[in-house]
Amino acid sequence: MNTLEELNIKGFIDEPIDPTLDLYSEIRRLKKEKNAVILAHYYQESDIQDIADYIGDSLGLSQEAAKTNADVIVFAGVHFMAETAKILSPAKKVLLPDLKAGCSLSDSCPPKLFSKFREKYPDHIVITYVNCTAELKAMSDIVCTSANAVKIVESLPKDQKIIFGPDRNLGAFVAEKTGRDLVLWNGACMVHEIFSREKITKLKNRHPEAKFIAHPECEEHVLQMADYIGSTTGMLKYTMTNSAREFIVATESGIIHQMEKASPEKVFIPAPPNNACACNDCPHMKRNTLEKLYLCIKNELPEVTVPMDIILKAQRPIERMLEISAQFGL
Ligand code: 13P
Ligand code: SF4
Repeated sequence: MNTLEELNIKGFIDEPIDPTLDLYSEIRRLKKEKNAVILAHYYQESDIQDIADYIGDSLGLSQEAAKTNADVIVFAGVHFMAETAKILSPAKKVLLPDLKAGCSLSDSCPPKLFSKFREKYPDHIVITYVNCTAELKAMSDIVCTSANAVKIVESLPKDQKIIFGPDRNLGAFVAEKTGRDLVLWNGACMVHEIFSREKITKLKNRHPEAKFIAHPECEEHVLQMADYIGSTTGMLKYTMTNSAREFIVATESGIIHQMEKASPEKVFIPAPPNNACACNDCPHMKRNTLEKLYLCIKNELPEVTVPMDIILKAQRPIERMLEISAQFGL
């Protein structure tokens, strides 16, 4: 008898796919047959975004995962997102096309070290950014995303002492916006911390009419140049409603697919990182492919599981986030 772990490994790695197969129609057929829903993050490759039932930022994806009637959630995103879906809907089967799709930001905050860190601030509550492990969420008082972090901190009494982790850049942005003195964990995202201020400045000079928009996971010296700072959904909406014709976009380049679909007449320029590449892809997000998505829904593997004791502890901080977000109409 194979363990789920063994099945998870066998589930997708070596299975050959008939090259003549129409993956789009096969995925649609399997989705119907299994009453499955495909939730995809904006950083997924375009093919996956195009076949998803719902595309969104981390907050939108959590809200969808909490309310879906599907029996199976196929999460086209990274591991912490699929874990969050499992915590919110423990009775459902949650699948991730590639179990190795992790997150450098989540990795930058090992739960054991964070637990020791937290002991130094016994009178502080813990707000964790959703980009962290289920174990870390289980140690938290409230979870947040980039779309609601400011509102969540503002919803707490002014004298409430707060630890914020794991993203130091989002934490510094929230501290600046709210005027609160947050204790920050020193973590960062490998994608957002390598945007080059120098190259962006040159790009802005070449495109003086372009709006520069950035995700709050970017470093402060990049955020200082931004016309707009927000979550991926916030950035997308800004490009749809702002009258500018050109936008320089400082986040993972997958979001540009939705921006171009929503505003085909506008031009979107990916902000360059400080390496030889012209745009900035998340290697974790891009582990998922249409082929892996097909095998995942077909074999119902790999499956993401979370121990029940962690689910029970992590549920409340995520639900608090959803409640506060609903109060603010987010
Ligand atoms: P949002 O989609 O919530 O803005 O987050 C971006 C991100 O880095 C997800 O990994
Ligand atoms: Fe993690 Fe950054 Fe990739 Fe988002 S973009 S999944 S924060 S490594």
